[in-house]
Amino acid sequence: MAENVLIVGLILPDVSKSAVEEHIEELEKLVETAGGVAVQRVIAKRNGRDAATYVGSGKAEEIHKLAQLHKVSLVVFDDDLSPAQIRNLEKVIEVKVIDRSALILDIFARRARSRESRTQVELAQLSYLLPRLTRQWSHLSRQGGGIGTRGVGETQLESDRRMTRSRIARLREELDKIERTRETQRKGRSAAFTVALVGYTNAGKSTLFNRLTGGNADAIDKLFATLDSKLQKTTFEMPRETVIIDTVGFIRKLPHHLVASFRSTMEEAVSADLVLHVINGAHAHYEEQRTVGEQVLRDLGIPADRVIDVYNKCDQMNDGQELAQTLRRRDVVTVSALTGTNIPHLLDIIRERELAGGETVRLQIPIGESKVIAALHERGVIHEQIADEETITFKAWIPTDALHYFQRFAVVERALLGEVRAG
Ligand code: GTP
Repeated sequence: MAENVLIVGLILPDVSKSAVEEHIEELEKLVETAGGVAVQRVIAKRNGRDAATYVGSGKAEEIHKLAQLHKVSLVVFDDDLSPAQIRNLEKVIEVKVIDRSALILDIFARRARSRESRTQVELAQLSYLLPRLTRQWSHLSRQGGGIGTRGVGETQLESDRRMTRSRIARLREELDKIERTRETQRKGRSAAFTVALVGYTNAGKSTLFNRLTGGNADAIDKLFATLDSKLQKTTFEMPRETVIIDTVGFIRKLPHHLVASFRSTMEEAVSADLVLHVINGAHAHYEEQRTVGEQVLRDLGIPADRVIDVYNKCDQMNDGQELAQTLRRRDVVTVSALTGTNIPHLLDIIRERELAGGETVRLQIPIGESKVIAALHERGVIHEQIADEETITFKAWIPTDALHYFQRFAVVERALLGEVRAG
């Protein structure tokens, strides 16, 4: 049976009421994703955070009464709480108290399937729990698990810090190993053009991934449906071999430990040739979601010129919004991954980027030049080849840094970009 959950937000002088309400709505969705039902919300207004109880003792007492009234078994705070605040609040409220970070970690623990994502989540959970291992749990009955206890769980909480530290060290080693394997796989793909889809959770990345690859990634109206990056070749005709990568979504106030331990998954985006920042353009607070995404991209060190903003769900946008977005910046495209609207335009943009790093040329190479021919196969993309007795004539795309090597065999010096795209 779903757990009854009470949600708490705090309006401070520097945060607007509507922003807090929107954060609370998102928190309710997170609770739902974790298998609970948000039966009651409490929004407190204060001039500052209370050091002992975050919302103040009067408000904590009110939450206690509401929790009893609604038979609540968990209270979730939208902001990070200190271990002492949690302890004090649990004493007053007499129900388990967690913060947004713990809830997100719980969802990730529940979603993690592969060895990599399980390792990443466990590492994040242990790093989050380590400073909290002194917590006193005895004053509450803790039977039956529930939200906030999955994954690492209570036994770890009670275990000794040294063991936790050595487990963290082992998980780090494991992740290093996984990262090295990934690196090798990436090198093997080096000839392909890689396009990573990144963005806020529920923006439509998996839907776009499926649209571009004909794949079957889970596209569901739940947060964090995708934890592992997925890779698949596109089914569309492209100038170069093109691999699309789906990645884990972002969310506001993403726990710091989670970002750190998911770095190896996000490395796929870091090393991608092109990053499509998918933004739910139909969301009332898409600007804020875009800012969260941009911050993560900056943290990962992805340069802005490698990123294109893709405003998704244009089927749900009104025209004014769409226009404003399109005019705001050049590198912006508005699509609907669901209906397919404007996907051809997006594909054209990707094609342009693919060809921008090189030129399409015609080369006539004597058959005896086997080394040159092998290099062309390795570095270039061959569109056409016609052999006669002595030479092979190629029409091929060559990356800029390799052009000089093939120059002496060129029969047409100028780029044939238009011709390739038309053909
Ligand atoms: P996470 O895995 O949580 O990061 O989500 P995601 O970004 O991969 O989103 P996903 O593709 O799972 O889509 C989330 C929801 O939005 C699903 O219910 C989709 O059907 C819906 N959706 C995706 N694209 C569109 C679109 O263009 N228009 C509309 N109306 N809905 C869309």
